[in-house]
Amino acid sequence: MSSQTILLGVNIDHVATVRQARYKDSPRGCGQFVEPDPVTIALLCEKAGAQGITVHPREDARHVQRSDVRRLRECIQTRLNMEMAATEDMLSFALEVLPETICIVPEKREEVTTEGGLEVAGQFDRIDSIVKSAKEAGIESSLFIDPDKAQIEASAKIGAKYVELHTGAYANAYYTARRAEEFERLVEGAALASELGLIVNAGHGINYVNVSEVITIPELHELNIGHSIISRALFFGIDEAVREMKALMAGA
Ligand code: PXP
Repeated sequence: MSSQTILLGVNIDHVATVRQARYKDSPRGCGQFVEPDPVTIALLCEKAGAQGITVHPREDARHVQRSDVRRLRECIQTRLNMEMAATEDMLSFALEVLPETICIVPEKREEVTTEGGLEVAGQFDRIDSIVKSAKEAGIESSLFIDPDKAQIEASAKIGAKYVELHTGAYANAYYTARRAEEFERLVEGAALASELGLIVNAGHGINYVNVSEVITIPELHELNIGHSIISRALFFGIDEAVREMKALMAGA
């Protein structure tokens, strides 16, 4: 796939992070002044050209709330991608909300953000069962994995439609001698995943600098980007932040 057609999903978790920093214990009923509203931001992202909205209602509900996800489901016009831990509770929430896709991620309470990819091979039956239940409800699954052969092969065996390759190690290595090696892992991982019939997405730590290299991976279908876009929005507004990222993704 050419770089010009890579889709952009915007992860809006950190909008909710800012809201929770002040209004965690406030009721968010109609008419109350509570900002920033992640749903309003999602609509602005769509207007600026985002092709999907991603949220991660974590088990500890530290940023996005389930009520946000329900409102997003009602309001957005593109696609809702819900990241979730591989638990029964999260599966039933997904079956209630019916996002277009779920992206199964590892989740540890003490982490600041998702660290490391999902261990698919080591919990095959659990992931397999979630993917199948989601599929029966019309929800496609993506598995957030490191670009490792064993994880890619297990993801293909399960029959997930997508994998999201974890670009965090590459992003962390960007200014170090390990950058080329980490990039090569992504290139090889994307090629293998695609060969095995998986649609290849990528995300974590992608920013306005490293995105230009990331998009040279030929198999990429979609990038999920959060922190850098929300950060840039503080200076230039969300419309400009999304448009600029899209321009870079188109090779500008
Ligand atoms: N994809 C997944 C699966 C994630 O967990 C995250 C982080 O929440 C992202 C993409 C976005 O990462 P970032 O906020 O660094 O762009």
